[in-house]
Parts: sequence; C-alpha cells; structure tokens
Amino acid sequence: MSSRRDFLKKSSLLGLAGIASNLVSNNQLNTLENIGEVTNQSNQAFKLPPLPYAFDALEPFIDKQTMEIHYTKHHQAYVDKLNATPSTNIDYQSTDQIKCTHIDNTTTSVIRNNLGGHYNHSLFWTLLMPNPEGKPNTPSGKLAAVINTSFTNFDEFKKQFSEKAATHFGSGWCWLVYQKGKIVIETTVNQDNPLMRLNLKNPLEPTKYPILALDVWEHAYYLKYQNKRKDYIENFWKIVNWQQAEKLFLEVEKL
Ligand SMILES: [Fe+2]
Repeated sequence: MSSRRDFLKKSSLLGLAGIASNLVSNNQLNTLENIGEVTNQSNQAFKLPPLPYAFDALEPFIDKQTMEIHYTKHHQAYVDKLNATPSTNIDYQSTDQIKCTHIDNTTTSVIRNNLGGHYNHSLFWTLLMPNPEGKPNTPSGKLAAVINTSFTNFDEFKKQFSEKAATHFGSGWCWLVYQKGKIVIETTVNQDNPLMRLNLKNPLEPTKYPILALDVWEHAYYLKYQNKRKDYIENFWKIVNWQQAEKLFLEVEKL
C-alpha cells in the first residue's frame, strides 16, 4: 500500500501529466513513477563541456563576444532544454554520440533539435584552436592522405567544403564525414547531424561519423561578419584543429 508521501509524489506527477482528477490503475501509476525516474535521470544528464580555450583565444578570426554568447547562451540553452525535457527515448547511460545515432524521423523535434545542438557544439569547440597569427594550417598524417586521395588535393577539398558551407540555405552545419571507407562533404539543416538516422533510403546504411564540423548558423558569425558568411568560412580554415580531426578520423576508421 502506498504511503502518504508516495501518494503525494504520484499526485504531483499526475498533476504534471494533466490528469490529476482522474482515477488511475496500478499500471498507470507505474508509468508515472517511471516518468519520475526519467526526470531524476535527466535532471543533470547533460552538461556544458568546458571550452578548451578562452573566449578571446580565436581572435582575430572569431571575436570574443561571439564566442561568449555562442557558448554561454546558445549552447547552454540546448543543454538546459534537454535537461528540462525528460524522454523515455534517450538512453541516458550512453555517450552523446550514440544518443545521436538513436535519433530518427519519429523523434520529437525538441529532442532532435536540442540533442543535436548540444552534440554539434560540443564537437565544434574541440575542432577549433587558437592561431592568432594566422599561420598556415593544413592537415597532416593519414587524414591528409585520405583527403588528397578523395579530393585530388587539399585546396580542392577546401574549395568544395567552402562552397557547400557558403551555399547552404539558412541555418545548419557543414561536415566532413567518414562512412564505411570513404569521406564525403555534406550539410545538415538546423541542428541535425550526420549521426542521426534521418530520411534513410536504406535502413541498413552505415553510420556517418563527423570528422570536421562548421557551424553556419548566423549566431556563429553575424556580430563580426554580418552577412559575409564567405569571409567567416575563409577564416575558419585558419583555426581548424586538424590534430583533433585526425584523431576523430583514426577512431572511426577502425569501426
Ligand atoms: Fe551555433
């Protein structure tokens, strides 16, 4: 038999569910208890990761104010929304990367958008690095070799990626992704990413893993560049952390 405390907890959850005045079966109560557990699990499930450099570290290519707002307001908002939106469709024990691979066309937009927003930005911060003097910055090692094989040379890769990022309509991301032995450039809308299982023609299609990411939402560049997305993209190449991109590539090519 339920204690008064349990009863109050269940009543509270019933209120949250908007059916407080209804009589409920034991099964329904169990479901509501599960909602309570999910709430507890998700309360602090997502955290804003530490930024690996100071807000002004990417100057003069990304300005301090943009970085501060982008990280403390935009990224924080995705985290807060996720923590405020408990979902039985999220495996809270898995990594954020694996969580993204569970997103499909049936996922609610609030989870899809905010999980994508959180994962994409967490990745993006690590793929940038300070280079205040704008020294030449190109990939090396195995990733450089694969880029050369796939796109003829680095300049051709850079040109194709830049064009794709510049011509993407509206908000979204441009990616270099690895998919079962090959690397390709693609864009996604809003906060979608290549890990998500969206609009698949073949449900057995292998997972696409991001190696490089570029945020082309206006909030990423508008304060400094206004409508000149191409200038932002051109300067992005100066601060790409190729060492991190190479690390991501080496991790996924083994899968
Ligand atoms: Fe962003």
